[in-house]
Amino acid sequence: MSFKQDSKIDFPKWPIYDENDVNALVDVIKSGKWWCGSPGVHEGENVWSFQEEFARFQEVKDCIAVSNGTVAIEAALMALDVGLGDEVIVSDYTFVASASAIIATNAVPIFCDIHPESLVMDVSKIESLITERTKAIIPVHLGGNPVEMDKLMEIAKANNLSVVEDCSHAHGSRYKGKRVGTWGDAGTFSFQASKILTSGEGGAIICNSDILADKIYSYIDCGRRKNDYFYNHYSYGTNYRMGEFQAAILREQLKKLPAQHKLRNKNAIFFRDKLISIDGIQVMKLTPGTNECGYYIFPIAFEPEKFRGLTKEEFYKKLNDNKIPTDDCYPPLHSLHCFKEIKLKKDIDYSKANWGGKKSDDKNFPVVSDIYSRSVEFPHEMLLTSDYELNLVVEYIRSLK
Ligand SMILES: Cc1ncc(COP(=O)(O)O)c(C=O)c1O
Repeated sequence: MSFKQDSKIDFPKWPIYDENDVNALVDVIKSGKWWCGSPGVHEGENVWSFQEEFARFQEVKDCIAVSNGTVAIEAALMALDVGLGDEVIVSDYTFVASASAIIATNAVPIFCDIHPESLVMDVSKIESLITERTKAIIPVHLGGNPVEMDKLMEIAKANNLSVVEDCSHAHGSRYKGKRVGTWGDAGTFSFQASKILTSGEGGAIICNSDILADKIYSYIDCGRRKNDYFYNHYSYGTNYRMGEFQAAILREQLKKLPAQHKLRNKNAIFFRDKLISIDGIQVMKLTPGTNECGYYIFPIAFEPEKFRGLTKEEFYKKLNDNKIPTDDCYPPLHSLHCFKEIKLKKDIDYSKANWGGKKSDDKNFPVVSDIYSRSVEFPHEMLLTSDYELNLVVEYIRSLK
C-alpha cells in the first residue's frame, strides 16, 4: 500500500499562520517599539500583555516571558536557589535542555527512569534517588502527558524539595482538574518553532507566588527589581528577556491554540483506539487523572518481531517514504555523549551522579532503554488532520506486519 499516489493526503504544515500574525508583526515594526522596556516604563505592550494572556490560559497568577524554554528552566532553578553542590532529579526521557539547564546552574542532574506505559518520569522511583544533596525535582510532561503530580508533590514536600515542571510539551495539559505547571513551585514552557504555541523561539515561566515571580524577573532582567531605578542591579542576573516581535506573534498564536488543542485531544482518542487494535503497537498511555493533553508529540512503541523484524529506523523511514511525518524519539539523557563522557563543566564534581562511564549503561535505565529502542513519534500537527488521514496512517502501519 502506498500513500504517494493519494492526492487527498495532506498533513498540515507547522506553524499555521494567517494575516493576523503578519499584521501583528508589521504593527510592531511600524510602532518603532521593538522591546518591552521595564515594568515601570513600558516601551512595547506585547510582552506585558502576552504574559497576562498566557497566565490566564494556564490559570495561574504570574508569567514571566523569556527568550527560550532552556533558560526558562535555568531561571526557575536559580530563583529557587539551586546551585553548586545540589542535585536535581529529572526524567531520563526528555530533550537535553531539561538537564543542560541544571548544568547551567552548576548543579548535578540525576536521571529517573520512566513508567513503561505513560513514558513519563516513574514517580515510584524518585525516593530511591534522593540524597542529602537533592534540592529539586524536574518532572517533564513528555508529549503533554502529565507526570503524577499529586504523588510527586507529596514526595517533594516530605523531603523539602523544590519542583520545576518542564511543560515544554504540555501547553494546556490538565491533570486532576489543575493545569500542569501549577502543581510545582514553577512551570516552564518553550515556544520554539516546533512547539504547539510558537514564535520561532521563546519561553516562559509561570508560578503562583509573587515573591518567586519577582526573583525570576530579577534574574532574567539583569538583577533589576520591578519598578525600580533602571541602573540598580541588586543580584546576579542576566538578560533573557523576550522581544516584542516574538510576543506579538505569540498573542496571535495563543488565540488559535484553544481550538487546535480541542481538535488534537479529539483526534488523539480516535488515533489511539485505531492504533491499539494492531497487535504489537503500544501508544503512550495518558496518566490516569489526565483531563486534557498538550500532545506536542504522539509517541508509539512497536514490537519488532511482530513487524518482520524491522528496526525502528527502518520503521520510521518507511512511514516517511509514504509521506507520513514520523521521527525518532529523544535518546535517553544517560546515553548522550555529554553525560556518558562527562564532557561538562570544568571543576564541577559529577562523580556522585548516576550517569557517566559504566553508570550510563542501558541496564541501569531498563525501561527507557527498551522503549527508546523501539519507539517513534508523530508530530502534533498530524493530530490537526481528519479521521480519513489518521485511518490511512493506521492502515499503512498495519500493512508493515
Ligand atoms: C522537554 C523540553 N524541555 C525544554 C526544551 C527547551 O526549549 P527551547 O528549545 O525553547 O530552549 C525543549 C525543546 O525542545 C523540550 O522539548
